[in-house]
Amino acid sequence: MKIKVFTLFPEMLRPMLSESILGRAVSAGLISVDLIDIRDYTLDRHRRTDDYPFGGGAGMVMSAQPILDAFAANLPEGFRGRRVYLSPRGRRLDQRIVEELAKEDELALLCGHYEGVDQRALDAVIDEELSIGDYVLTGGELGALVVIDAVARLVPGVLGSEESPEDESFTTGLLEYPQYTRPAEFRGAKVPDVLLGGSHADIAAWRREQSLALTLERRPELLETAPLTDADRALLARLKRAREVEARLDAAGAGYERLEMRLADRWPKEWLNAFVPEENRKAARKQCVSGRRHVGFLWQAFTMGFIPQYEQGDAARNAWRESAPEKALLYLPEDGLLYRIAGGTGPDFGAFILADEGLTRTFVRASRPGEGPWFAKISK
Ligand SMILES: C[S@@+](CC[C@H](N)C(=O)[O-])C[C@H]1O[C@@H](n2cnc3c(N)ncnc32)[C@H](O)[C@@H]1O
Repeated sequence: MKIKVFTLFPEMLRPMLSESILGRAVSAGLISVDLIDIRDYTLDRHRRTDDYPFGGGAGMVMSAQPILDAFAANLPEGFRGRRVYLSPRGRRLDQRIVEELAKEDELALLCGHYEGVDQRALDAVIDEELSIGDYVLTGGELGALVVIDAVARLVPGVLGSEESPEDESFTTGLLEYPQYTRPAEFRGAKVPDVLLGGSHADIAAWRREQSLALTLERRPELLETAPLTDADRALLARLKRAREVEARLDAAGAGYERLEMRLADRWPKEWLNAFVPEENRKAARKQCVSGRRHVGFLWQAFTMGFIPQYEQGDAARNAWRESAPEKALLYLPEDGLLYRIAGGTGPDFGAFILADEGLTRTFVRASRPGEGPWFAKISK
């Protein structure tokens, strides 16, 4: 990739092009960046490159002559790359545009300064205006560096491994999941267990969930165009439901932590294993848990007689309240959501299951009419 930058201030760019990944890419010849000083081409005897704007107004405008002569002297006849003017009026740069630019063999980047550039120069030599964001810089040099940096990352060989760009924010259409490095515990803050567990499938599921959740929270508009699978869409529906649930938990002042969907999916099976006697387990799993998700209410396990021993009624509910563990697991069967909450029952969610963390004791509330009020206190 050959890049030519037309600027009045080449020294502003040089340091960035000699350090770190960009510096190595330049030294290795994977990209070449020529810095062309527009001032070298002015015909003005005072070496001026700008003048007052016709029609009045503040500031100066870069003259057409030095720019056009600099382009003519440095771009060969038949130059086929894209000629870009960095400008706040331009198409706003994003990863899709960066990918487009990376396909070019050559790029020419024009940096404006002062109030901008005489329109006739732009009309004569520029294919496209690009903006790096909705704010105004003093000059196009930072914009040119942004373009060069983002494009260079996509040139094969510039990054250590060609795999690296594929997982990034925007490349997948979503924001990237959180990253961690050693140590596994730092000043009391732990790396999520799943990343230490070594299961590639679990790690991939966790990362996807984190990406979807972050994108939903910060950049929901990206979800309209991101390539999503049916599983992603189902997960997003649960994440949206989780927001409603969490608003209610917030309103109730309950402390809580939502556990990953992967854990919520596994929980019904674990729960059944904890409380359903061995001889009933197979039938209970078949009736109450399908694949990785629950079907209907887990409390079917009671009504269908899979769990023979339980206490029922308000007395059982009061018994749980009085002896609720400090941290309990709250499972919402209809939403497939699992929370770690401060003990107690929190807001009334209709159907829910509360359990201590070791799954030795649980409390089930079923809310459907005619299905009985409270079922509680199952103990191992
Ligand atoms: C002060 S700005 C000129 C702004 C111009 N008068 C306008 O309102 O559109 C000077 C130069 O900085 C560069 N520049 C400023 N903001 C930019 C942005 N958001 N993206 C890319 N280049 C920008 C352009 O090259 C521009 O010519």
